[in-house]
Amino acid sequence: MKKTIFITGSTDGIGKLAAQRLASEGHEVFVHGRNPNKVKATVAEIQASASSTEVRGYVADLSDLRAVAALGQQLAKELPRLDVLINNAGVFKSPNATNAEGLELRMVVNYLAPYLLTQALHPQLQQGEQPRIINLSSAAQAPVSMAALQGKAIPGVQEAYAQSKLAITEWSFYLAKQWKDISVIAVNPGSLLNTRMVREGYGTFWSPAEKGSDLLYELAVGAEYSGITGKYYDNDQGGFGKAHRDAYDSRKIAELIQTTEGLLAALV
Ligand SMILES: NC(=O)c1ccc[n+]([C@@H]2O[C@H](COP(=O)([O-])OP(=O)(O)OC[C@H]3O[C@@H](n4cnc5c(N)ncnc54)[C@H](OP(=O)(O)O)[C@@H]3O)[C@@H](O)[C@H]2O)c1
Repeated sequence: MKKTIFITGSTDGIGKLAAQRLASEGHEVFVHGRNPNKVKATVAEIQASASSTEVRGYVADLSDLRAVAALGQQLAKELPRLDVLINNAGVFKSPNATNAEGLELRMVVNYLAPYLLTQALHPQLQQGEQPRIINLSSAAQAPVSMAALQGKAIPGVQEAYAQSKLAITEWSFYLAKQWKDISVIAVNPGSLLNTRMVREGYGTFWSPAEKGSDLLYELAVGAEYSGITGKYYDNDQGGFGKAHRDAYDSRKIAELIQTTEGLLAALV
C-alpha cells in the first residue's frame, strides 16, 4: 500500500538512500534539507529514477527553531495526512558549537527540532494509516544535562551528540505512551556507517550506509513492524534491544519533558 512519508535530512546519507528506495517503490516521499539547491537536486534525482512522481521538497534549517515551527505550519497546511515521519536529520561535527540563541547545536538539531516538528504534525499523523514515527538515535547515548539542554553549559561535541541521542530516545519512549494510536520507535541505524557525517567525524567507517537506510525502509513500511511502539531498535545487534538505562527512568524522562516544554514555550 502506498504510504505518505516525510524524511528530515534526506539530502544526504541514510535519509537520502531511504527516500530513494521508498520512492522507487511508489511511496509518496517528502524530502527535506537545509540547503535549497541540494533539496531541489535531490528531488530531481529521485524523480528521474523513481516510478513515483509524488516527490516534494521542503527547506528548513533545523538549527533555527522558528524555521522548524514555520515548516510545521507549512506542512500542516499542505499535507492532509502523514503515514510515516522519519526524524533523521542530525549533526555531529559543526563549525559553530551553538545556534543563534546560544543553544548547543546537536541538542537543537538532533532533539529539540524533531520534538517541535513532531508536535506540529500530530494531527496529520492521526489521519495516517497505521502511523509510525521513527526517531534517529545512536549507540552513543549519555545522561542528559538540563544545563546543556538549555545552553547554560556547552559540552564537547561527542558528549553533546551522545546527550542529544539519549534525549531523543527518552522522548520517543514517552511519546509512545502518550500517543497510543501512533507507533514510535527509536533506532540506532548502525555504528560508523559510510556517510559524510561519519567520514568527517571519524575519517573511517565500519559498514555501508545501506545497512542504515535499509533498516529505515523496513521500519517505515515493513508489515512486521506494524503496531510495535515504545521500543529501541539496535542495528549493531540486528534487533530490538536495550537503550541507555535513563531511557527507562520515569523521573528523568519527566524532568526532560518538563524542561523541553519550558524551553520551547520561551523560544518559539
Ligand atoms: N552514519 C552513522 O553511522 C550513524 C550512526 C548512528 C546514528 N546516525 C544518525 O543517523 C542520522 C543520519 O545520519 P547520516 O550519517 O546519514 O548523516 P549525513 O550523511 O551527514 O546526513 C545528514 C542529513 O541531515 C541534514 N542536516 C544536518 N544538519 C541540518 C540542519 N541544521 N537542518 C536541516 N537538515 C540538516 C543534512 O543536510 P545537508 O545535506 O545540507 O548536510 C543531511 O541531509 C543522524 O541523525 C545521525 O545522528 C548515524
